[in-house]
Amino acid sequence: MPTIVFVSPKGGVGKTTAALLLASELARAAPVTVVDADPNHPIAAWGKGAALPANLSILADVDEDTIIDRIEEAAARTPFVIVDLEGTAAKIVLLAVSQADLVVIPMQGSQLDAEQASRAIRVLKQHEKMTGRAVPYGVLLTRTSPIIRTRTMGHIQSGLLDAGVPVFDTQLNEREAFRAVFSFQQTLEDLDPREVSNLDKAQANAEWFAAEVIERLRAARAGSETPTATSNVGAA
Ligand SMILES: Nc1ncnc2c1ncn2[C@@H]1O[C@H](COP(=O)(O)OP(=O)(O)OP(=O)(O)O)[C@@H](O)[C@H]1O
Ligand SMILES: [Mg+2]
Repeated sequence: MPTIVFVSPKGGVGKTTAALLLASELARAAPVTVVDADPNHPIAAWGKGAALPANLSILADVDEDTIIDRIEEAAARTPFVIVDLEGTAAKIVLLAVSQADLVVIPMQGSQLDAEQASRAIRVLKQHEKMTGRAVPYGVLLTRTSPIIRTRTMGHIQSGLLDAGVPVFDTQLNEREAFRAVFSFQQTLEDLDPREVSNLDKAQANAEWFAAEVIERLRAARAGSETPTATSNVGAA
């Protein structure tokens, strides 16, 4: 069952926010486990105060020694597993990536962040060299303005695409509602629109992101099945 891992060696780019938004969206339709592998346990802390949706479980008891087993156990139990890591390039990242069906690399729109995203991509390439398996991934632009497309952002986005780096069509906009999820310890769905501005827009944004993740998982699965299909044709 699909495991989606959020990776970025840079702190504060929106990994935890994007991971929790995705988990809550998917949990509206199917059971999800979040493996909170950040030693500060931001998602577990959120879950302690939140009225947790029935479909959402959070596992925080993980470290380098246990992460592979924990992800495997979670994947056997729930259709979706989402892994949130701290902002580092430590060994635990490589271990989590080894279990991933899709890696999401959140990135904010500055040149510095683009360099950090390249470091994350290098980790994926390193993993591919070690194991012979290429993990599908996509860069997710985060905290972007819903109104204006800055020149820096446009430049970075086209630079990534020119370099053959897959970039999510959906960007996570800068929204108060995405911060409110943590401060009110509620899911986006449960927040009160009278207390949080543009909640409907934030909800739509999170839905698009989740839909694109599903689409990319499907595409990755179809891609990985292609060689078998070709060899069947060859054998026929
Ligand atoms: N799309 C967004 N809109 C508004 N605020 C955001 C958004 N994404 C992240 N933030 C805010 O930015 C800060 C950092 O976000 P977050 O904790 O998700 O990043 P992170 O990559 O998980 O950080 P770390 O590396 O420390 O784990 C938080 O205060 C969060 O509320
Ligand atoms: Mg985090």
